[in-house]
Amino acid sequence: METRPRVDAGPELLLGEARAGKLVLGGVPAQRLAAEFGTPLYVLDEDRVRERCRAYIRALHRHYPHGQVVYASKAFCCMAMCRLAHEEGLYLDVVSSGELATALRAGVPPAHLLVHGNNKTAGEIRDALRAGVGRIVVDNFYDLELLEALTRETGGSADVLLRLTPGIEPHTHEAIRTGGVDSKFGFGILGGTAREAVGRSREIPTLRLRGIHCHIGSQILDRAPFVQAAEAMMEFAAWMARDQGIALEDLDLGGGAGVRYLPDDPVLEIDEVIGAVADVVRQRARAAGLPLPRLLIEPGRSIVGDAGATLYTVGSIKSIPGIRTYVAVDGGMYENPRPALYQARYHSVLADRLDEAPAATVTIAGRCCESGDVLIRDARLPAPRPGDLLAVFSTGAYNYSMAGNYNRYPRPAVVFVGGGRARLAVVRETVDDVLARDVPPA
Ligand code: LLP
Repeated sequence: METRPRVDAGPELLLGEARAGKLVLGGVPAQRLAAEFGTPLYVLDEDRVRERCRAYIRALHRHYPHGQVVYASKAFCCMAMCRLAHEEGLYLDVVSSGELATALRAGVPPAHLLVHGNNKTAGEIRDALRAGVGRIVVDNFYDLELLEALTRETGGSADVLLRLTPGIEPHTHEAIRTGGVDSKFGFGILGGTAREAVGRSREIPTLRLRGIHCHIGSQILDRAPFVQAAEAMMEFAAWMARDQGIALEDLDLGGGAGVRYLPDDPVLEIDEVIGAVADVVRQRARAAGLPLPRLLIEPGRSIVGDAGATLYTVGSIKSIPGIRTYVAVDGGMYENPRPALYQARYHSVLADRLDEAPAATVTIAGRCCESGDVLIRDARLPAPRPGDLLAVFSTGAYNYSMAGNYNRYPRPAVVFVGGGRARLAVVRETVDDVLARDVPPA
């Protein structure tokens, strides 16, 4: 883990560094990025993303050499990112034909792709089969029906994993818990449907059951739920071997590692989590007399989350005496819906005033037409002025990928920075782009 960049007498920076009181990201002054590419602007520190990829690979290889890191592209998906993950030796998980096409066009070999989804359409399954993806993760019995029909139709076959819900409830926001009994995802281990799914998939001759998958949730900052999930999954693998005579080839434990959003947030040590999980897999495999499966992990947020920052320009400022001061920026819930959806909290600085002591507690609001469009409550900043550049940290995951066009705002550009250079990864949308699909009235 790298050391936290700490500026004397300045605000804590979760990304970049201070030079003469100004924020510099990947060696490029934030002000220059704003001037060249406009705001709001998503900035991704390419070196940090690569370092995160390498840290995962190092940790996995140290603790469990027969493993594969799979980037969960939903966290941040564009061709440049898919290419980067592939260059670093990661496989990719995709959920839709859109993510699939992005990865393929970025040059990711289809064999390196896993396809997820709790309601894959026939079209999406056809796309995946046609591309020849490495694994399709079966979520439910309807998936099995479609796969049976479509492999028959195309004369093809598929390597599949079964997505199981191990009944683990990590302490994270309700909307991003996925591994519990009451989940729309996967076959329940506890209720017995997981066993039924094994039987059913074995009856379909065009499917090769390669293994099992689980994903228990996201933004998890504690090692225990990952260990519990690994135990539950290995117990199931032991049953598969004993009762069904199936030796598990792949054990995919999903993603979920949390990142730091606020300076005081704890840091989850990836190396320790992987070490603990690898121990469970090895011990349980030995106890059950199983060959060691390939271990897959699917990090998304922890690859890109804290490598991103968003730059905004401050506009209108409204003070309500004795109540609060609203500082509005030129973005909002259309490009970062996380505060509205999950009460997510973020840390911000005024990019060109890092030397000034915080003098105000303000609420950073977006420009969407609803009161709930607040990005940060109670940010401590030097008193903001219109025209100031505001940097919000840890926006690399689930910001660009969840952005929309509410109020018909065009989505921001994405820029990769590193080594003093900036390169455009996604061009800013224009109002014409937003209108491009409208059928003009006759
Ligand atoms: N694998 C599967 C099957 C997943 O569903 C996910 C995330 C991941 C891996 C990656 O999880 P991560 O390492 O990023 O936690 N939009 C929410 C997060 C939703 C996560 C969805 N699945 C948020 O902004 O917090």
